[in-house]
Amino acid sequence: MVKIAVLVSGGGTNLQALIDAEAAGMFPNGKLAAVVSSSPTAYALERAKKAGIPTYVVNRKEYASNQEMTAALALQLKDLGIGLIVLAGFMYVLTPELVDAYPNAIINIHPALIPSFCGEGCYGLHVHEKALAYGVKVSGATVHFVSAVCDGGPIILQKAVDVLPEDTPETLQRRIMEECEWKLLPKAVQLFCDGKLSVEGRIVRIAD
Ligand code: GRF
Repeated sequence: MVKIAVLVSGGGTNLQALIDAEAAGMFPNGKLAAVVSSSPTAYALERAKKAGIPTYVVNRKEYASNQEMTAALALQLKDLGIGLIVLAGFMYVLTPELVDAYPNAIINIHPALIPSFCGEGCYGLHVHEKALAYGVKVSGATVHFVSAVCDGGPIILQKAVDVLPEDTPETLQRRIMEECEWKLLPKAVQLFCDGKLSVEGRIVRIAD
């Protein structure tokens, strides 16, 4: 059984998708075991409590650097026996300490088709503003393993949606969440927990 930790900072709709997937029996080999928030007021914490998942708050101000915070987090997650870390809107860039402790065992969801509209500073509504400003006709979401390069790790799953002429960053964001993110993330977690993902270089192979 893979113990899963979900790291959040905000509303937690992706966390909710995972909670719903677990309740629907999608993770026979996994268990949501911890929700870690960078903010004590994140609504994601309420969702976790309602689902009976232990919650933790990591306060960046208590640490001298992102590096110190990340190292402490890595130790805590190891202590809890966590085998898979899911970044679902966690707002701090984690330093290599976590990747070293969890090679190919950290999954991130990004609301664009990587390698477009990604990298440092490309988060939240900015992603969709950039996609609209560029004039792309499709966008979507990417689930990938986390490496030392921001949004640069091996891609697990991607899904596209049309960009519509009347789209605003908000409507595009919503469509990508509903049609891509909330489906891809549970699927990727399921594949990981079922032992179906293997990584060769930057290529992720998915077993049948
Ligand atoms: C999502 O857009 C996700 O792609 C990004 O952060 C956002 C989190 O939203 N990494 P929520 O907290 O899951 O609602």
